[in-house]
Amino acid sequence: MHTLSIGIDKIGFYIPQYYVELGLIAARDGTNPSKYHRGLGQERFAVAPPDEDIVTMAANAAYPLLDATDLQHIDTVLLATETGIDQSKAAAIYVHRLLALRANCRAVELKQACYSATAGLQLAASYVRANPTRRVLLIASDISRYDLHTPAEATQGAAAVAMVIAANPRIATLDAPSGCYTADVMDFWRPNYRHTPLVDGKYSTEVYLEAVKHAYHAYHAQGGLNYAQFAQYCYHLPFNKMGQKAHEYLCKVNQIDNDIKKLEESMRYNRIIGNSYTASLYLSLCSALDHRDDLANTSVALASYGSGCVAEFFAMTILPSYLSQRQKAHHQALIAQRIALDYASYEQFWHRPELTQTDTLSVGQYNRSRYRFTGVFNHQRQYCINPDS
Ligand code: CAA
Repeated sequence: MHTLSIGIDKIGFYIPQYYVELGLIAARDGTNPSKYHRGLGQERFAVAPPDEDIVTMAANAAYPLLDATDLQHIDTVLLATETGIDQSKAAAIYVHRLLALRANCRAVELKQACYSATAGLQLAASYVRANPTRRVLLIASDISRYDLHTPAEATQGAAAVAMVIAANPRIATLDAPSGCYTADVMDFWRPNYRHTPLVDGKYSTEVYLEAVKHAYHAYHAQGGLNYAQFAQYCYHLPFNKMGQKAHEYLCKVNQIDNDIKKLEESMRYNRIIGNSYTASLYLSLCSALDHRDDLANTSVALASYGSGCVAEFFAMTILPSYLSQRQKAHHQALIAQRIALDYASYEQFWHRPELTQTDTLSVGQYNRSRYRFTGVFNHQRQYCINPDS
């Protein structure tokens, strides 16, 4: 019997045009920059300007991917985020309008800290398996923003990753076994009244390792592939050292020497973009796809983690057509065009307009990409298409 293959037909990311060099934070605090470069494995983090939010980043990530066939067949938009902009309305609806998707479509927002894009991927794959002519637009979009002058500040970042999930995909097929783990823990959370998360940093790193460990064993209990059968590993990367520690654990369990080579290419983008919560694992996948030319017909392992917490360990098979489908040139152009912020501009961007008490607000232009957040009128968020984009 012919089994239908389902998976990622297209994948691409978007990042804001601004970043902070971690040396700037080190100089401010009199810290040795090696703590960030080597200790955390990070060099820079992306900073969203005031006229950018999860909606504009999501639309900017998806727009270059979609052609007329996608517009015709996408009937579901899933937007995964930790950085919600509304307690009720799904950010996916704004994105649906900005991308001019068909009206006969469902649009919904998914939440579970950094994990929810993986839930979105599994839901999308099941839906397409049952409805093979349909496509799902899945977008992970987040701005990671911690309080200034805290240890977590160095692990900020921002990015959106868009994927088209379809039958007979051209990037990767999603393999069946998948190991999940859920536990009610308070390592990182953001009550409705806060703009920045509460985080128990050291504890969160321990819970991450524990959760990935359980998910990995659950994956194996279902007859998943063994360590050596994977050509590449991708992890949720709040900072690269976290993924390295998880990988060390897998090597130990499999009684092999720590094998960083199977990880290196999936950390390149994350090192200079920082934490992007729901998008982080899929940014790591983009990094592997863009930096390796030899992944055709190989298996890639993915370890997803979201504080609170949920973890999932699963796998994909990379298809030969990924070489022509990947968005490498576009991604590298986005990185090359970025502007480094000085300290004063970073603080100004960090403070962003806080909208809690404001029914009307106009936001200046910093963002030159296609979609822009222009402000709030009568408590309603306003977006536009940059005329010069
Ligand atoms: N040269 C080289 N390395 C150095 C160094 C130097 N001069 N100085 C310090 N280091 C090393 C330390 O030894 C340490 O390495 P190990 O962990 O391997 O021992 C590393 O640099 C970090 O140093 P500290 O432990 O002193 O760092 P810190 O206390 O300032 O903060 C942190 C680290 C707890 C991760 C903090 O950045 C944080 O709270 N981040 C946010 C929470 C987070 O990302 N948690 C990850 C798991 S939760 C998750 O994944 C969900 C999510 O996205 C948030």
